[in-house]
Amino acid sequence: MSAVIGLQWGDEGKGKIIDFLSKDFDIVARFNGGNNAGHTVVVNNKVFKFHLIPSGVVRGLTGVLGNGMVIDPSVLVKEIEFVKSNNIDPKLKISFKAHLILPYHRIIDRGKESRSGTKRIGTTGRGIGPAYSDKMRRNEALRVENLISSNFYEKIKNVLEMKKDELKSYNIISSDSELKEYGDRIYREYSGYAKILSKYVCDVSSFLFEAKENGKRILFEGAQGTLLDIDHGTFPFVTSSNTTVGGIFTGLGIPPSFLEKVIGVAKAYTTRVGRGPFPTELSGSLGEYIREKGMEYGTTTGRARRCGWLDLVALKYSCDINGVSEIALTKLDVLSGLREIKVAVAYEIDGKVTKSFPSSADKLYKVKPAYETLKGWNKLSKGEWKRIVEKGFDALPYNTIEYISFIEDHLKIPVKIISVGPEREYTIVRE
Ligand code: IMP
Repeated sequence: MSAVIGLQWGDEGKGKIIDFLSKDFDIVARFNGGNNAGHTVVVNNKVFKFHLIPSGVVRGLTGVLGNGMVIDPSVLVKEIEFVKSNNIDPKLKISFKAHLILPYHRIIDRGKESRSGTKRIGTTGRGIGPAYSDKMRRNEALRVENLISSNFYEKIKNVLEMKKDELKSYNIISSDSELKEYGDRIYREYSGYAKILSKYVCDVSSFLFEAKENGKRILFEGAQGTLLDIDHGTFPFVTSSNTTVGGIFTGLGIPPSFLEKVIGVAKAYTTRVGRGPFPTELSGSLGEYIREKGMEYGTTTGRARRCGWLDLVALKYSCDINGVSEIALTKLDVLSGLREIKVAVAYEIDGKVTKSFPSSADKLYKVKPAYETLKGWNKLSKGEWKRIVEKGFDALPYNTIEYISFIEDHLKIPVKIISVGPEREYTIVRE
């Protein structure tokens, strides 16, 4: 059993790596986040864009949505219908303990952001934070088990009663008298989703225990990246879930003994969407060059991603937190054609040099990265990359191998998978 975990601020190319690995697995299990994530898979020339369904599902794997997730049923139902319209009957297991995103979560998410002005986080606006906040508040939350139960109407009414002041403050309702009608509307909409989803709902941890006993191979799919983790990321500019390896166990209800290998995915440079500190950010034309060449625009929101050099201080921290066994390095082709490539190897903070990552945003805003400069390599055509992939690792340009070795020497972790294009075939595996 392996986990695929993002080591930066998300968008590391986990979707492609999972798709590439899916042939060796029977089950792909998500444990955190919701439809703030996004990945694109191309199967038989057909493009599939998913935010909730794990990508392996269109290749016939069973997709698990764990209790650690927040699920927007309107999005999930659309994705299921899309898969079905392509003559694939999705095999899904949805935890009855996962939490629901309700229409007001999306409105509150966006409302809070616009009220926060310069202090906003830059969320995806999908209601993720408000849904997780309600989970922590306990009696203001609804779970998948409530959606499919006969007392769903009662539950909505109770929750809305608790939330009425908040709903008023975001102009979702203007007076108490509108509360019943608002609840009725949610009930009608969500009852429709319940009819479609109920057959997939189960006790996910029992399902995984049984699957393991029957020799099934499970791949754990992390969403977002380590530096967006609610505890270990660049707080408060983070998402609201545990994106790191610990989230697998709490987010699926399984013990650590399930996990044999942690594949950390890192882009050959760094990107970030939304606000927050980013020490190696390139704000000028070089940043724009990488953005255009790497097509660095969000799958979920279409927002332009901020781009910068690879940050080995941050990467070392992420590898430590997750116990990474090997690295998948993605988008190496994007750096082609640059004369020099910089890599941050230390930070200077208040006149002192450090190699440890201060994950607190206040400190991280102050750091000045110390760079090593490596030689770049020439631009290569798609065909040239294809030939390199066919020949294997040793056929890579010399300076590319130097770049990879530099990363490995610094992190003391092998780079085993190298991705040089979005398609599945553009992947080198090092034995
Ligand atoms: P939220 O998860 O929508 O609350 O957003 C919180 C922060 O996480 C924002 O900076 C988002 O841009 C970022 N974020 C959330 N999901 C992703 C993702 O899948 N990729 C990259 N960034 C993400």
